[in-house]
Amino acid sequence: MTAKITSKPSRNSTRRHFIKTIGMVSTALAGGMSFGKNISRKSIELDSLKDNCSFSGLPPNYTYLNSGTEGTMPECVLSTLQENLIKWARNPTNSYELDPILGKRQEFNRNKVADFLNVGLNNICLTDNTTMGLSMTIMGLAFGPNDKVVTTNQEHTAIRSPLQLLNQRQGLKIETRSFPSANRLSKMKATEIVDFLFPNIPALRNAKALCVSHVYPTTGVRLPLYALREKADELNIKYLVIDGAQALGMIDLTQKDDRLEHSDFYACPGHKFLNGPPSTGVLYIKNAHIRPPEFYPTLSQRMIRYADGESMSYPIAKALQVRGCSNAPGFTAMVRAMDYINDEGGAEYIEKHILSLSKDVKNFILSQAPNCIVSPYLDKKLLSGLTTFYPFKWTKPQIPLKDKESVNWVVDKLLEKNIRVRSIGIPTPGNPNKLSTKTYAIRVSTGYFNTPEDVDSFKFALRDVLNRIN
Ligand SMILES: Cc1ncc(COP(=O)(O)O)c(C=O)c1O
Repeated sequence: MTAKITSKPSRNSTRRHFIKTIGMVSTALAGGMSFGKNISRKSIELDSLKDNCSFSGLPPNYTYLNSGTEGTMPECVLSTLQENLIKWARNPTNSYELDPILGKRQEFNRNKVADFLNVGLNNICLTDNTTMGLSMTIMGLAFGPNDKVVTTNQEHTAIRSPLQLLNQRQGLKIETRSFPSANRLSKMKATEIVDFLFPNIPALRNAKALCVSHVYPTTGVRLPLYALREKADELNIKYLVIDGAQALGMIDLTQKDDRLEHSDFYACPGHKFLNGPPSTGVLYIKNAHIRPPEFYPTLSQRMIRYADGESMSYPIAKALQVRGCSNAPGFTAMVRAMDYINDEGGAEYIEKHILSLSKDVKNFILSQAPNCIVSPYLDKKLLSGLTTFYPFKWTKPQIPLKDKESVNWVVDKLLEKNIRVRSIGIPTPGNPNKLSTKTYAIRVSTGYFNTPEDVDSFKFALRDVLNRIN
């Protein structure tokens, strides 16, 4: 008998407003942006959408279960974006130089993000995406010739790429630890996984940085930030650098176990689970006073402040923010997505909804094919809104199908039924330097806008598709 996860009933998401609002939205948005005479009429239409946070951008018969790749945007976010693009277009110079919301220093939006995450203004820099935040961090830290960093075999290229660059350019040593195989991983507890990945051995001790993900895009494993912090302290690792691409908008980053402040640097996007616009993200920097020669602002117009020695107290988050023209209208819309979360009941509430849907997906796979689940399901602390599993023939559930072709076939057949999930490559354990060896699995992301009905549609369609697989 396989243990089942107990699901709490979840509230219907705001997609229920879809039918009511679709006519109004398509009128306002289908016209796109128009400047000149129409502008005041457009502004009035947008005003009426600003408080409407239905997810009607997604067609009614489309079950979108891939927020792990990209989220969508509710109307209030879309209209905020459009409104501020128009504002910019009307008065570009003023917008960039002086506007308190759109201007290059971004203090207003940085403050709003800081409030949402319960940290300070100078802990926050707004970025284009996770990749930018990780690059600013890894390239900014002043690694010396004998330094090493610890990472895992399942990191995204957003972490691996800058580490590789430093490895090749200046010989930074990289200790890559392998996750256990899927059948072992799915039954593990949080402390077991963290101890397995980062044992107290000389090869890991005294590393300069531990560079890992909060939630793994491959397996959906969520590594509790407090456990990573404890581990980094135990191993005397100076910096805990976190890739939070799959966490913002899914996990409450102000709560005990997963509080942002457990990390030293945390990079995350606005465009995935948060349902903000493309090209938005956040970099959290714990030490607001960090500066050269400990940390350099690599993408910035403000290095001069440190170089001339006159203003050594200039906050690094501000130095990283002032980097030419950024996606300021996008940042206003990302902040709107955060306000929306607060209006809905807060990040903790959103997390509960997402986890409850993902438990439902996990239980469905467990009930039919316990051998095929990859994501952990026994320890609550490891759960996320991502569920990964190997497909299987419905009548032979004991045999996981791990090849790319079978997985892509299932993804394509589900898409023919208007269900969007994705295929994901999982590096095999034991050979951290040969990252190209992978098995393939299906990944289902349950976002805030998803409903129990979406999960039911997925289950129904999956059963049909797996009955047809050869
Ligand atoms: C773990 C992880 N890191 C980084 C990224 C890249 O995210 P972004 O587009 O925000 O740079 C992704 C995208 O899927 C991801 O899953």
